[in-house]
Amino acid sequence: MLAIDDKDFGTPERKADKLITLEVDGCSVTVPEGTSVMRAAALADIPIPKLCATDSLEAFGSCRLCLIEIEGRNGVPASCTTVVEPGMKVRTQSERLTRLRRNVMELYMSDHPLDPFECKAGGRCELHEMARTVGLEHVRYNHGARNHLELPVDDSNPYFSFDPTRCILCSRCIRACDERQGTYALTIDGRGFDSLMSPGQHQHYSESECVSCGACVQACPTDALMEKTLLEKGPAQRTVITTCGYCGVGCSFKAELSGDEVVRMVPNKNGLPNHGHSCVKGRFAWGYATHPDRVRKPMIRKRISDEWREVSWEEALTYAASELKRVQAKYGRGSLGGITSSRCTNEEAYVVQKLVRAGFGNNNVDTCARVCHSPTGYGLKAALGTPAGTQDFDSVLASDVIMVIGANPTEGHPVFASIMKRRLCEGARLIVVDPRRIELVRMPHIEADYFLQLRPGTNVALLNAMSHVVITEGLAQEAFVRERCESNAYKMWRDFIVQERNSPEAVEQTTGVPATTIRAAARLYAHGPNSAIYYGLGITEHSQGSTAVLAMINLAMLTGNLGRAGVGINPLRGQNNVQGSNDIGSFPHEYSGYRHVSDPQVRAAFEREWGVELDVEPGLRIPNMFDAALDGSFKGLYVEGEDIAQSDPNSQHVAEALAAMEIVIVHDIFLNETAKYAHVLLPGSSFLEKNGTFTNAERRISMVRKVLPPLAGMEDWEVTCALARAFGYPMNYSHPSEIMDELARLTPIFAGVSYEKLDRLGSVQWPCNDTAPEGTPVMHIGEFVRGKGRFIVTEYIPTDERTTPRYPLILTTGRVLTQYNVGTQTRRTKNVTWYGEDRLEIHPHDAEQRGIRDRDWVELSSRAGSILLRAELTERMQPGVVYTTFHYPETTANVVTTENSDWATNCPEYKVTAVQVLPTSRRPERRTPEHAAQTPASH
Ligand code: SF4
Ligand code: SF4
Ligand code: SF4
Ligand code: FES
Repeated sequence: MLAIDDKDFGTPERKADKLITLEVDGCSVTVPEGTSVMRAAALADIPIPKLCATDSLEAFGSCRLCLIEIEGRNGVPASCTTVVEPGMKVRTQSERLTRLRRNVMELYMSDHPLDPFECKAGGRCELHEMARTVGLEHVRYNHGARNHLELPVDDSNPYFSFDPTRCILCSRCIRACDERQGTYALTIDGRGFDSLMSPGQHQHYSESECVSCGACVQACPTDALMEKTLLEKGPAQRTVITTCGYCGVGCSFKAELSGDEVVRMVPNKNGLPNHGHSCVKGRFAWGYATHPDRVRKPMIRKRISDEWREVSWEEALTYAASELKRVQAKYGRGSLGGITSSRCTNEEAYVVQKLVRAGFGNNNVDTCARVCHSPTGYGLKAALGTPAGTQDFDSVLASDVIMVIGANPTEGHPVFASIMKRRLCEGARLIVVDPRRIELVRMPHIEADYFLQLRPGTNVALLNAMSHVVITEGLAQEAFVRERCESNAYKMWRDFIVQERNSPEAVEQTTGVPATTIRAAARLYAHGPNSAIYYGLGITEHSQGSTAVLAMINLAMLTGNLGRAGVGINPLRGQNNVQGSNDIGSFPHEYSGYRHVSDPQVRAAFEREWGVELDVEPGLRIPNMFDAALDGSFKGLYVEGEDIAQSDPNSQHVAEALAAMEIVIVHDIFLNETAKYAHVLLPGSSFLEKNGTFTNAERRISMVRKVLPPLAGMEDWEVTCALARAFGYPMNYSHPSEIMDELARLTPIFAGVSYEKLDRLGSVQWPCNDTAPEGTPVMHIGEFVRGKGRFIVTEYIPTDERTTPRYPLILTTGRVLTQYNVGTQTRRTKNVTWYGEDRLEIHPHDAEQRGIRDRDWVELSSRAGSILLRAELTERMQPGVVYTTFHYPETTANVVTTENSDWATNCPEYKVTAVQVLPTSRRPERRTPEHAAQTPASH
């Protein structure tokens, strides 16, 4: 049900150079050509009653409530479907119109439950508002007549219910599902009086194609579709605008509250990443924030074999600081380090790295992006000068060709996927490169022009071959390359790429993709004219992750597909703040804004601001911290909002390293796997319990606002500052806005960012400074950030991970829509209804060879270990390749994945593991949620 406090202009905005002036109720209004009369009137603050129209959907013209009179014309046309004309004179109020509208409303109400002037939403739905607006006071018609009032409620969706007795068949839900979400799950079933809104064909919601995005509920003008929390808790009294804490799309939401209780999360119509759309996680799966498993009290213990002891904040922080000091005095300055979180706010990550650099006096700070998108940062910075995606999300609406490689947006980044699907439905062409037949390859109204189902681990060979085609077939944008790129580097790369070994024919066998398909896809991409690449961890989590990022950039530069709307290189980031945690200086070699710690000028600025001398040497990366722990030189770690025991490769090695440390401080919302090795546990705050900012995959900095008080009494940034003070380094901020101000003072790309600006504009995309005071949606316009773009030779070097007779299959990994990483949050919500366990997808041919039937339990083994899970036979897989998700702790990723990693950044090679799959009579040991792990920023 729509939140009625957002102004609704009735029909969508039109953009046109030509303006039309008309008169509405005597007021002159000028609007772009193509605008509806309803919208023109609303822009002049003249509301016209309506039910089937809303400005997020194309007009439909079915309810007949929005009737108007036009001077010189007969009849009473619907204003939502009538387009403005020059000189038109419109009347929205007259006795005739009032009578007609009241009659229409009376007819609706006559087939509505007998409490026509009360609704389940406490009278806040549009139907009842319209009844009041048109002055309907009673219904004359006989309620004993044939009606729909006995129809049963569909309660099958865990988050919302559908009450057909309240439905007025306005089709807003159906259009929302089609136009906003692109799932086409709803229809009007039957004819005439028997017409009913229905998921699928006479199905319940739970049996239909519905993905529970909530768009239909949002669009419904009555109380037919309603959130169950709203039905249970009643209408909200206040709202707070904040940002989703799940994925890197960074959707803006209005948290609606009754007292200190969240009633529902409504996607913010003015939210720039999502424009009022949402997915099931952000919209509904927020219940984990108050789950009983939340850690509510600080705890300490001397040894990891001891029982935890609940203590006060003061005792916990004093103990933690004294242990850190003791360890540092004994083992030296470099014996301590910290890990920032890609789930926490920018401000929280900033104070953690500041504690390490200024407090501990070294640069031993790293972040979980190490295990997901570090190759993205490396490649984009090396070739273009800025380690971030080049476009805003809306840029895709200007794309002619979209290439999706190693990403599954409909599952991983659903709201962005909906924008992309809209563009595809409008006619953009699609290339999908993936070892697995993802949903985008073929879905209602969308079919990929080319699906390149490559062998895992061969991205670089395939991308090189595409560039080879572009050059050898004369499709390169030579002028762009000449003007915008380094000529020597280009020549060197060109000499490399034209070699026969990079041709589609030469790599056909390696990649498993027919040469003709590679050629056709390369031609399509080169012809664009606006071609955009969207990619995910299927590119980065490889031994050649950084090389693949460079290979995509080479292809984009070669075809001139950078520096304007509709093109670009776009990483789809997994966690909510993975971009931000990198930006604010979480890497051991870089201060905020990606400036090297060895740069004397930059370091001097930080030394002045922080009042200490800073270390000139880069610190330890996460894997180096573990090695140093086992060597005996690294003894103390502060980990905020990450579960490194779960998320980092080679779990056994990590466990031994953690056990070898003398002080491990875990700061988290749940007891995670790393906490098994911790001496101090500091309760974390969820995204609903703090102020700060997140930065999404399009470099957009958005406000996170405190909706509830922190369960344990302190926001995460306050805890880190208190720990710093206890350690002896003063950090005295009174609000996160002061942290942002400091970050802006020290960081050129954030120089123009402030909470005041974020409040005023809603959000900004960095760089935001004097040159771009309102931010930068599209980067590299006219010139690359580094000046000239740099082509870099991308030799394909196959991974060391090979199949053998013992391990004849390749395992690759991914995620599902309803779960989030290893599910710490989503498994504590009703999302488990849809995905209760991880499954192993296997091609029927591979399954038959092994005697495996659908749903059989199987053992998946690699050189590193084995796990048990159920098989799903599916032709989504190619023979020889199997796939699983790692949302459940029973199927811990790192038990089977190997230690291979990206040559440049150490990003683990999670996407290619040689495995065997065999039937088994064994069953996995179920773990309780307390043992459940927090997220790897991967898979
Ligand atoms: S919840 Fe979303 S996917 Fe499901 S029917 Fe409604 S609009 Fe369609
Ligand atoms: S469920 Fe709501 S939106 Fe859908 S047709 Fe009925 S009244 Fe309209
Ligand atoms: S797409 Fe991502 S940010 Fe948006 S609601 Fe879903 S999980 Fe949240
Ligand atoms: S609002 Fe125009 S016909 Fe329904």
